[in-house]
Parts: sequence; C-alpha cells; structure tokens
Amino acid sequence: MDFLNQFTSHSSVRSFERKDLPEELKMQLLQAAQSGSSSNFVQAYSIIEIRDPDKRHEIEQIANGMGHVENTGVFYLFVADLNRNYQIARETTQDLKAITSMESLIVSIIDTTIAAQNMAVFAESQGLGICYIGGIRNDLDRISEMLELPAYTFPLYGLTIGYPKNKNEVKPRLFAEEILKIDRYQEADPVVIAEYDQRMNHYYQQRSRNTRCTDWSQRVQAHYHTLRRPEVFDFLVKQGFDFPMKEQ
Ligand SMILES: Cc1cc2nc3c(=O)[nH]c(=O)nc-3n(C[C@H](O)[C@H](O)[C@H](O)COP(=O)(O)O)c2cc1C
Repeated sequence: MDFLNQFTSHSSVRSFERKDLPEELKMQLLQAAQSGSSSNFVQAYSIIEIRDPDKRHEIEQIANGMGHVENTGVFYLFVADLNRNYQIARETTQDLKAITSMESLIVSIIDTTIAAQNMAVFAESQGLGICYIGGIRNDLDRISEMLELPAYTFPLYGLTIGYPKNKNEVKPRLFAEEILKIDRYQEADPVVIAEYDQRMNHYYQQRSRNTRCTDWSQRVQAHYHTLRRPEVFDFLVKQGFDFPMKEQ
C-alpha cells in the first residue's frame, strides 16, 4: 500500500484477536515512537506498557471500554513526563518554574503526541490496528496511584495496538478547504460545514455498526454541551504544575 493510502485508510480498531505482539515488533514500535521530533529535544514523555492483566482490567473499567483494553496485542499508556528533566535540572537550579509552567506542559504534551502518532502510524504500516484511549482520564487519581506517577507527570491517553478482528469504515474528514486557510485565518464557512454534515449524516446512517441519525455539527454540539473532566486542573496542580495568572 502506498504511504498516503495508508493514512487515508485509517480507522480506529476496537476489536482485536487475543494474541500478544512479538517482542521484536514491540521494540520496533518503540523505535518508531522515539524517532519523532522533540521540541528543544527535551524528550518529555514516558510510555508505560501495561502487562498486568488486573491493571488492564481496571483501566478497561475506568475507560468504559468494550474489551479492547484487555483484549489487545499490547496496551501502552502515554505519559507527559517532566519528572525526568526535573531530576536533571534540579542539580543545577532551585528555580523550577521553567519545569512546572504551562509552556513546559504544552511542550511535553506535544512531544508525547508526536511519539504516540509515530507509533500508531508504524503499527498500521505493519497491518495492525490501533485505538487511542482518552477514557483513562476518567479517573486520573486512580490511574496515577496505580502507575505510581510522580510529580510533573500527566497521563494523557492509552494506545491499544493489536491484530484487528474487524475494521470500521473510514470516517470522512472535514473537507480540506475547511481545514486549510491561506495567508490568514478564515472562520468556518457554514455552507461547507452544512455539506459536510450531509456527508456525515449519510455515513452515520449507512455504516455497518452502531448506526445513528446524526451529523457532525450535532455531535460537536452534544460534545460541548457539558464541561468535561473539570478535575483535570486540580489534578495538574496536585502533580506540581503551576499556572499563576501571570507568569512571574
Ligand atoms: C486522544 C484521543 C483519545 C481517544 N479516546 C478514545 C477512547 O477513549 N475510546 C475510543 O473508543 N476511542 C477513542 N479515540 C478514538 C476516536 O474516537 C477516533 O479517532 C475518532 O472518532 C475518529 O475515528 P477514526 O479514528 O476511526 O477515524 C480517541 C482518539 C484520540 C485522538
């Protein structure tokens, strides 16, 4: 399959064979993840492979999964990790504002996500299926306790990777003309969004599983109807991050 074709064929897989990935393939997945760019080369992330079946079971419950955390070839948890760099930096400075700042957290989230997506794309190139699991953030305190996460870390999402049992249809993306803006920002064009909604309505009604009568705008409206996970801020503060209203 050519490279672009691989990207445009992506769909998240939520049903896997009960078969572990060989160690060599897991090492390659890690290599792919670690080869991504890293802002100022801080490499501010860690990847925790969850092997313990009890932990996987509990994470599955936390994420309201439907079996795909427990029954997957491998399950990784991606952690934005400034603890490693904190340990190194504190040898020469007591002022750690630069570690605990919003900017550092954003950089760390970007690094982590580049690594995760590199891993995901490589996995798909090997015929494997993947699904991100943001549902791990449904209980940050428990995840943090279970994985013994220290200060200056934040668990972002899990990634299931395995041999797909079945694959969903590809979900049509927003039209490129909506995403790409030339030379300046342009607000969303309601006509283009309405056309996309029609397309998505068709997709939701026609797909082979979990059909529903909705469109993309309705999904967006429902999503932003309620504030999600308001406890994230307090969790970050507990983890040692510091967001003064005005950086000193
Ligand atoms: C950060 C992130 C978190 C996600 N969390 C979940 C999740 O908890 N459970 C799930 O079933 N899918 C999850 N997904 C998958 C999205 O629902 C999926 O990517 C999106 O609906 C587009 O579908 P596609 O990946 O099949 O194209 C997540 C995706 C991302 C990027």
